[in-house]
Amino acid sequence: MTTTATGLPPDDPEGHRPPQQQQPATPHSPKTEAAPETESSPETEGAPEAAASPATDALADDLLPTPKGASRTLLASLLAPHRRRVRWVAVALLLQQAAVQAGPLLVAYALDSAVPALRAGDHGPLIAVAVAAVLCAVASGGLQFGFIQLSARVSQDVLLDLRGRIFRHAQALSLDFHERYTSGRLISRATTDVESLRELLEEGLQELITVALSTLYITATLIWLDWGFGAAALVSAGPLALLVRSFRHRSHRVYSAKSTAMARVIVKFTETLGGIRPVQAFRRERPNDAAFARLNHQHARINGATSLEMARYVVSSRLVANTTVAALVLWGAYRVATGGLALGVLAAGVLYLRRLYDPIDRLGMFLNSYESAAASLQKIAGLLALRPGVPEPAAPAALPAVAAGRPGREVAFHGVRFAYRSGGEVLPRFDLTLPAGTTVAVVGATGAGKSTLAKLLARFYDPTEGEVLLDGVDLRALSTTALRRGVVMVTQEAFLFSGTVADNIALGRPDATRAEIEHAAKAIGAHDFITALPDGYDTDVRKRGGRISAGQRQLVGFARALLADPAVLILDEATSSLDIPGERAVQRAMATVLQGRTALVIAHRLSTVEIADRVLVMADGRIVEDGPPKELIAGRGRFAELHRAWRESVG
Ligand SMILES: Nc1ncnc2c1ncn2[C@@H]1O[C@H](COP(=O)(O)OP(=O)(O)OP(=O)(O)O)[C@@H](O)[C@H]1O
Ligand SMILES: [Mg+2]
Repeated sequence: MTTTATGLPPDDPEGHRPPQQQQPATPHSPKTEAAPETESSPETEGAPEAAASPATDALADDLLPTPKGASRTLLASLLAPHRRRVRWVAVALLLQQAAVQAGPLLVAYALDSAVPALRAGDHGPLIAVAVAAVLCAVASGGLQFGFIQLSARVSQDVLLDLRGRIFRHAQALSLDFHERYTSGRLISRATTDVESLRELLEEGLQELITVALSTLYITATLIWLDWGFGAAALVSAGPLALLVRSFRHRSHRVYSAKSTAMARVIVKFTETLGGIRPVQAFRRERPNDAAFARLNHQHARINGATSLEMARYVVSSRLVANTTVAALVLWGAYRVATGGLALGVLAAGVLYLRRLYDPIDRLGMFLNSYESAAASLQKIAGLLALRPGVPEPAAPAALPAVAAGRPGREVAFHGVRFAYRSGGEVLPRFDLTLPAGTTVAVVGATGAGKSTLAKLLARFYDPTEGEVLLDGVDLRALSTTALRRGVVMVTQEAFLFSGTVADNIALGRPDATRAEIEHAAKAIGAHDFITALPDGYDTDVRKRGGRISAGQRQLVGFARALLADPAVLILDEATSSLDIPGERAVQRAMATVLQGRTALVIAHRLSTVEIADRVLVMADGRIVEDGPPKELIAGRGRFAELHRAWRESVG
């Protein structure tokens, strides 16, 4: 069962900017408020803001309150299932480095012992050195193969898990989150950020560990070979460590900015293309081009800054390394000449120093990928740490069983007050009981709070005060499954997923048979248009999307709801796209759909209202009139006035 019969949480056709209602997992997070979203939802078609939305301040938005240590906890939880394999990777790396770093020692032995022995006619030591060198090469190759394979498997599993978690989490977060945090940024979390983690796991991390290990091995061997060389290596480590530190410090900043800039580019892209119709209708192409160019340039500039940091680092680290090697060669040659040092030890020392300094350039690169992965991980952890603003209860309550023959469930609003975070109170104090099985129409001026009422009943938001009850059970106490089974909302824009028409209707009840699907479509009056499609019920709606009109989409939405068979059905302007004959047909069908359930019907068209048992007229979040339609029409209240005006307008 999905969130709404239309398949998606309904969009705000008004293009409001809801505030952050999601709570960070810990109350101690340093940044508690993200800047409000400045972009419109892509479905705000026709609303000028959609096309005219300014460039987003994604930098501020991207700084989700990430609880302290969330990145580490996330990483640990990702690696936990692979602990054994990680241990084997570590063992393989340790042994492989030992085999690799034996090379210069063998050279020293060959020069200082095997060559003199050979001069004395003894081939044994040289042959031993050759055999040892071959063994080391084979062992190092085999071990390297082993750990690459193992670590690739671990990293693939980790990334698979992470992408799945992001997707599941994003789906589970409530409507207020999605109104604020755009899909573009979610996409960038699941792609760019996961990709930078992949780079670290598959390329960077292994190199970083190799460098750390080889540094340890080499420094220890140098000290053991000759204290002077060892001491020189240690001394040169000082400036190098400073260089690395300053580089990390600077690159952390640019890398965080870089991923944010990339996200902004993606957001602008998806937003523009998602709202391509209003963009073209309001001729926003040029301002959009300008805004996109600005973001694109910003991204390029930050990329340039990362290269500059890299260049600074590489040049200065090479300078330190080469100077040290030159100085040591001089000093070593002098000591060899005066008999203070064996030639083999000098050769091994220089070889080791080269090996020590060589990876330092690359170290910068790997630290880069480490930084960028850490920034990404932090953003992902921040996202995953968000708790839904509408949380699921730990111990859900059960709804009382529906007595046979009893239609629908009772709905009650008890002392409900509600305010969106950004605005004033929308429902000041709301009390309403809808007896089971009644159809209640809600009318009222734009902004009166009708859709807000519907969203509270579907629990897209929780009331600020008071409670919404379904058969006496607070909606907050119900499991999401029970709630979505019991309450279904159909909104103006019926969303069709890629797949066939039949699949889209079956969304209301995935286990429905074809006969049941067709039955629902027939009851709604959608059967005729569906059978006229090229492949009938098996027509792919995405491919045929252009052929399915807005009204037909709404009919599919209705069929979905009928098939879902909820106890409570909410229709929010669900007939707005239907033409008059279509509407009449739907009205007949609606009587069928609404029968046997409690229904809240929000309609601008008063013709829809006539099938209701009761009409509520809302103004400023309050009910100002309440009664059967006939009574209200006969009276002299607001509804009578509205109705008269409507009758005159339709002639
Ligand atoms: N997500 C939101 N964030 C902030 N304010 C909102 C949000 N949604 C609605 N509002 C405000 O709440 C009030 C009631 O809005 P609501 O959507 O319930 O009106 P409505 O009666 O359904 O109007 P319409 O007939 O135009 O659909 C309006 O003043 C609106 O500005
Ligand atoms: Mg509305």
